Amino acid sequence: MTMPRRLNGKVAVITGGASGIGRASAIRFAEEGADIVVADLNPERGAEVVAAVKALGQRSTFVKADTSSAADCEALAREAASAMGRIDLLVAAAGISHALYVSGAASESVGGNRNAAHLINKPIEYWEKVLAVNLTGVMLTNRAVARLMVDNGWEGSIVNIASGAAKIPIVGAADYCVSKAGVWMLTKVLALELAPHKIRVNAIGPGFIETPMTASMRADEDRLRGLIAGTPLGRLGQPEDIANAALFLSSDEASFFTGEIIFPDGGLFTG
Ligand SMILES: NC(=O)c1ccc[n+]([C@@H]2O[C@H](COP(=O)([O-])OP(=O)(O)OC[C@H]3O[C@@H](n4cnc5c(N)ncnc54)[C@H](O)[C@@H]3O)[C@@H](O)[C@H]2O)c1
Repeated sequence: MTMPRRLNGKVAVITGGASGIGRASAIRFAEEGADIVVADLNPERGAEVVAAVKALGQRSTFVKADTSSAADCEALAREAASAMGRIDLLVAAAGISHALYVSGAASESVGGNRNAAHLINKPIEYWEKVLAVNLTGVMLTNRAVARLMVDNGWEGSIVNIASGAAKIPIVGAADYCVSKAGVWMLTKVLALELAPHKIRVNAIGPGFIETPMTASMRADEDRLRGLIAGTPLGRLGQPEDIANAALFLSSDEASFFTGEIIFPDGGLFTG
């Protein structure tokens, strides 16, 4: 017996869709019948995801957008709706782990020198960059897509990718932790504001996931062993673990969830 696909006929916009958790969500959503707008800074990797979605028989297009720009987010929402006819779902996965992080590139690590990453030493520009992408960027994408949904009477779902760092403080990563805690609260406020429009807003707080974002951590064998040993389920997460959580929250199975955050983290951040 074939199961009905869980997102048949839906249109999803996925920011950060070119890599890691966003990429896995794009593919998982397409497997469940959604058409996908991939939004990202990186057109080459975005094109690869678009091709993978099309190979699954779904429509897909790439929109280059810097989610920390209000103009880019408004243009993204407009282009997505005009290309696909509507928007039902948003996954806001675009993010950076620190100010110098470039996904998939060997970038300088602010956290490499722990003392330099402490708040008393961190340049204000680094703080502002992380907040601009991880918090303001999520707000701008949520707002741009929600405005169109409200104006057109499209009911739907928004899933914001926060982090376990929204509840657990990490030395040297104050900007990241604060940005993710902000996403958690943003999710709750927006959930209340958008509930009358039947738009649900939820968040996910992943533990350590095998994506380019954790590549430098995982390259250090001692650190990797420590991360695995510290995770009660005894492994790091795969991007698909988070994509499955995003799928659940975006599907009708979660139709009574809003303003909620779930933590797929192997038990790491329990307590
Ligand atoms: N990997 C983990 O362990 C982990 C844990 C908790 C939370 N997260 C969060 O998950 C989300 C996805 O991270 P990932 O692990 O898949 O990393 P990733 O580097 O694989 O993917 C991030 C994507 O976001 C894009 N991006 C970055 N800044 C952007 C911007 N300003 N505008 C548009 N696109 C931008 C990048 O180009 C990249 O394609 C992030 O918000 C991250 O903070 C990751």
